[in-house]
Amino acid sequence: MEEKKTMLSGIKPSGDLTLGSYLGPLHHWPKMIEEYDCYFFMADLHAITVRQDPAALRRRTIEQLAQYIACGLDPEKCTLFIQSHVHQHAELGWVLNCYAMFGELSRMTQFKDKSAKNADNINGGLFTYPSLMAADILLYQPDLVPVGDDQKQHVELTRNIVQRFNGVYGDVFKMPESYIPKVGARIMSLTDPAAKMSKSDNGDTGRVTLMDDPNVIMKQFKRAITDSDTERCVRYDPENKPGVANLMTIYAAATGRSFAEIEQEFDGLGYGKFKPAVGEAVVEMIRPIQEETRRILADKAYLESVYRAGAEKASYAAEKTLRKVYKKIGFAAR
Ligand code: TYM
Repeated sequence: MEEKKTMLSGIKPSGDLTLGSYLGPLHHWPKMIEEYDCYFFMADLHAITVRQDPAALRRRTIEQLAQYIACGLDPEKCTLFIQSHVHQHAELGWVLNCYAMFGELSRMTQFKDKSAKNADNINGGLFTYPSLMAADILLYQPDLVPVGDDQKQHVELTRNIVQRFNGVYGDVFKMPESYIPKVGARIMSLTDPAAKMSKSDNGDTGRVTLMDDPNVIMKQFKRAITDSDTERCVRYDPENKPGVANLMTIYAAATGRSFAEIEQEFDGLGYGKFKPAVGEAVVEMIRPIQEETRRILADKAYLESVYRAGAEKASYAAEKTLRKVYKKIGFAAR
């Protein structure tokens, strides 16, 4: 029998999951769990590159696990774990720091953005973040890494590290590919269509979180920036009408309709009808996720059993790779 391919991805619990976290990666993961051997995790080690409130970080990590399950990631069919529970991540992260170049780390867009936003805390972790991400990926030897557009550069760096490392030591790591969805790879802020919708910045008005009250969601969409053009028609033109294009992307992802179908649906109706329709589609899309998340969150013992079993399985797979790496680079056997 042919072996299943492997897939892996993670999200930082650095803020409550947003519509961007959902439509970019999360929404696509459940469709893949039958076909791939999947690992999904809460990237808490990555979250602390920016200061976190400890209680909030703990709450969000567990809530994120409940949301993964509520979105359809059945723990019986895939491995769900908390990054810091699998010590091999930090260990391989260190090793790969020694195979990632200062110049390439300096070129990472996210490092430049985050340093500008956190000028008083440009710490070493923020800089070496991509080598930890490379370790997250390579420990599990995945074929595919599904991410949003903004993480593509980090997967590319991982591929460079694979090439460099394997070039010296032989075929230790499998070369991973990123998988970027066609619709929803970059959901923008509702108040600033030039900035991505983010868990941790651009204020409360620009984002919608998965647990927001339906009334709040409707208000956010009614207030969403469209465009200042006089045309006021729903037409997909990301260059000249980025606000409308973003809303159309959200609507397309939520309803499965194409841009042409959406243009036809709102032909002659203007933004006054379009914006609340997007809000309603989002509310309907996330209503079952919200209900399921609340139900799962009430069962702390179940969640604990899921992340314990997940860490055990992940650690078993990760250890195999780590041992191989340690041997290849010349660490004395334990
Ligand atoms: P993070 O937590 O910033 O984002 C998690 C995932 O969500 C995607 N994403 C978006 N997609 C569309 N529109 C948006 N507005 C939007 N915002 C975020 C991101 O592209 C990402 O796929 N470094 C990673 C976490 C990570 C990871 C890994 C991912 C750590 N190790 C290994 C894959 C493999 C991060 O900070 O993602």
